[in-house]
Amino acid sequence: MAKIKTKARALDMLGRQQIAGIPTALSELFKNAHDAYADNVEVDFFRKENLLILRDDGLGMTADEFEERWLTIGTSSKLIDEDAIDKPVIDRNKTFRPIMGEKGIGRLSIAAIGPQVLVLTRAKRNDDLKPLVAAFVNWSLFTIPSLDLDDIDIPIRTINNGEFLSKSILDEMLTQARKNVDSLSHKISKTKISQINTQLSLFDFDPIIWERKLGGLKLSENGHGTHFIIKPTDEILIDDISPNESSRMTEQSSRLEKALLGFTNTMYSDSNPPIIARFRDYLEDGECIDRISESIFSHHKNSILQIIILRDILTNLVNSVAVSLFMEKNRSSMLSHGKAITNLLNVDHLK
Ligand SMILES: Nc1ncnc2c1ncn2[C@@H]1O[C@H](COP(=O)(O)OP(=O)(O)O)[C@@H](O)[C@H]1O
Ligand SMILES: [Mg+2]
Repeated sequence: MAKIKTKARALDMLGRQQIAGIPTALSELFKNAHDAYADNVEVDFFRKENLLILRDDGLGMTADEFEERWLTIGTSSKLIDEDAIDKPVIDRNKTFRPIMGEKGIGRLSIAAIGPQVLVLTRAKRNDDLKPLVAAFVNWSLFTIPSLDLDDIDIPIRTINNGEFLSKSILDEMLTQARKNVDSLSHKISKTKISQINTQLSLFDFDPIIWERKLGGLKLSENGHGTHFIIKPTDEILIDDISPNESSRMTEQSSRLEKALLGFTNTMYSDSNPPIIARFRDYLEDGECIDRISESIFSHHKNSILQIIILRDILTNLVNSVAVSLFMEKNRSSMLSHGKAITNLLNVDHLK
């Protein structure tokens, strides 16, 4: 008898390598927030700190659910089989939401945004708030061909109910991650080890200070939901979220806007989406740009409307010129001219 083994790299192949880019990764994470009955999903990207924080105020995960669902490959919200693990939770106080998740790999797309993530999640079940769960994942380990899945330890903590993750507990988790990397020195090259240790030292983050700084959605006191803290972020992120010069001229959306339009249009094209997504981009000088604000979309709608009105005015003008010329002479040739010009102005794709 033999068994099928799984290399750590399988996880990278299923996640980061499958995803088309950061905007698609974000839309997968937004879908997960939707499925968790969140009202809000918010991204704050701080360019100066190379830090991205994605927060939702959904139902969160208990420690068991986090291990069974988030940390277990092959689980999916769509798997409602009699042999499957528990059904995905629903919020009975809210309108039923059709699940947007599909293949059970969406959560892995977070690795496309940056090489390591701190996950904080706090469940709300009925009216009960559960303890906060914190886990730290360095995805670079999952790109190393010599490692097996169970070579990698994920530091995880359950914090006393009502308390938040302190910097000292987070630092203990990072030390644990560093020890795990060092213990793999017989399987990984020295260069790779020092590269990962450098990444770990870049995760200089104080959860309490940042929670206060951000305001809004929180996991302390009576807050619940799931937060992801990514530091450093992948360098292509800036490119993906800002509309480039040529797209600005033609008023096209950035890749982020396109992916998110897809997210809201997927299931709620006729009605108001039950979740609001925001992306705040803090530039080096501190200025904050709202990358997916409503105004961007209505601005696009307005310009399309203006083109349609202009088209109608021109068509009317051409028609009336054609009619008056027709009255004077040469009826047939004038008609064909009028028609040709009208055709030219017929901007079909805007209809
Ligand atoms: N933001 C979140 N809030 C609560 N649970 C989540 C969240 N993200 C992921 N999960 C849990 O992890 C599971 C796996 O997510 P994912 O890999 O995207 O697969 P799918 O969405 O297809 O189920 C979800 O079914 C859900 O139980
Ligand atoms: Mg999903």
